[in-house]
Order: sequence, then structure tokens, then C-alpha cells
Amino acid sequence: MDEFQALLQAIQRLFNIQCNNYKEDYIKRRLASRMNSRHIATYKEYREFLLQNKDEHEALKNALTINVTKFFRDPPVYDCLRSEIIPPILREKKKLRLWSAGCSSGEEPYSYAIMLHDMTTIIKDVDWMIIATDIDETILKKAKEGIYEKSALEFVTESQLRRHFRHRDDGRYEIKPHIREKVKFQHHDLMSGVPVSRYLDIISCRNVTIYFSDKQKNDLVRMIHQGLNPGGFYVMGMSEFLSREVEHLFSPYRPLQKIFVRKDTA
Ligand SMILES: C[S@@+](CC[C@H](N)C(=O)[O-])C[C@H]1O[C@@H](n2cnc3c(N)ncnc32)[C@H](O)[C@@H]1O
Repeated sequence: MDEFQALLQAIQRLFNIQCNNYKEDYIKRRLASRMNSRHIATYKEYREFLLQNKDEHEALKNALTINVTKFFRDPPVYDCLRSEIIPPILREKKKLRLWSAGCSSGEEPYSYAIMLHDMTTIIKDVDWMIIATDIDETILKKAKEGIYEKSALEFVTESQLRRHFRHRDDGRYEIKPHIREKVKFQHHDLMSGVPVSRYLDIISCRNVTIYFSDKQKNDLVRMIHQGLNPGGFYVMGMSEFLSREVEHLFSPYRPLQKIFVRKDTA
């Protein structure tokens, strides 16, 4: 095995990801930037450094964009959920369960919580809850803390910022308790099945499959199908798609926003 492959294996084991399917050039370019900043010249040396220095894990994860996220990432997706998908669920069922799968540092589930909080001040008496899961324990800890730099809040409106965040003395923004308590964070590996009782109305699993093999991607789509209520919605990442093997499980609802609706076929 060459030095690059040995490093790749170490990264896969450390971060529990599957890089095989990913373009080698992409990974090499990002590794080069980390190696430069540590003044390391060879993959072998970097592998040893990585294994001995936990500090480097976070930096490499960021460089590989493993945890990259934002509040209200891809705003048209949230607009569609807010204006078309969620109101009928709230009105008819008076209950909504949403799962943010691969939630990273919490920006995605908290965005849904902010949206639902504001909607349920108009459509009242609704029992709603958000389940948020990730495989990465370190990032989940950050998610539970709910403290963010201004840069994560680009798509948060002034009014949302005022009502749902506390501006801290250190300049960062902390999510307020009325939003935080609506999100239940759990550690969970998407390869191990549905983490919660089924009957979910919406599963948001976005930008998670970048390092998955084709088989893992298809297994994930089948699991999401099983987890959803009849007529439930699956929200994917903008650069993700349904392969031929699993496309019969969902109908496109808003293809441009990558929102699909569950079909009843087994
Ligand atoms: C790029 S972030 C996406 C965050 C958010 N969904 C978004 O779109 O902004 C991908 C997240 O998926 C998580 N992840 C990757 N593989 C996973 C797995 N097998 N099970 C659960 N989470 C996983 C990573 O730890 C990371 O936090």
C-alpha cells in the first residue's frame, strides 16, 4: 500500500467515513493545505502526526468539509417547507416529527426549530419535536452547546436573531432555551437504521453522503423510506440524488429543492 492509501485508511478509521468513492484529487488538494500549514512534506509524516495529535482532527475534518453547515443553508428549501409542506401537516395532524439526520454542529435542526416555533405562534396547539443525530460525538457536543460565530448566521434575519439568540459578551451568539429544548440530540450512525420510533413526517438528511459508497447511499434511502409516515417528506442535499435502484421509493415533490415525497410501494 502506498503512503497516500495508508493515510486515507487512517482518516477513514478515525472519522468513520468512506473516502473510496471520492475524487482522489479533491482529497489530495485538501490534504495539501493541512500539510502546508503544519510544515509537513510527506503523507507518511502527516499520517503519524494525525495519529498522535488530536488537535489536528478538527482542522482536517474542516478541510475535508466533513462538518460544514450553516443556519438556513439553501434558503429556498426552507421557504418551500415553510410555505407549502409544513402548514398542512400542522393544521391537519396537529403534530409534527422532524428528524435532522447528520445534523453536524446543530445549525440545521435549530433552523427547523426556529421556523416551527414561529409557525406555531400562528397555527396553534401543535405538538412538534425535532430529533437531531450525528455520528460524530465531538460535533454533537458543540451542537448541544448551541453557541455560534456570526458567520454561521448569514441567512438568519435580524428579527430571528433578536428573538432566538443571546448575544454573548465574547461576541458569539447563543441559541435561547425555548429553541434549544425543542431539539433532542442523539448519537447515531446512519448505517445502523432508524434511531427513533418511526412515523416521522419529515426527514432532512442533507450533505451527509459525500463519503458514502453507492451501496451505503442506497441503504440510507431505504432506511429513510421506512422511517417516514405515508406521504412523508425526504429533504436531500442540493448535490445529492436518488439512484435508479431506489428512485421508485419516492416521487419528486420539488425537485429543484431536492424535496421528495414517500411512495407507499414497499
Ligand atoms: C457536511 S455535514 C452536513 C450538516 C447539515 N446536514 C447540512 O446540510 O448543513 C455532514 C454531517 O454528516 C455526519 N455523518 C457522516 N456520516 C454519518 C453517519 N454514518 N451517520 C451519521 N452522521 C454521519 C458528519 O459527522 C457531519 O456532521
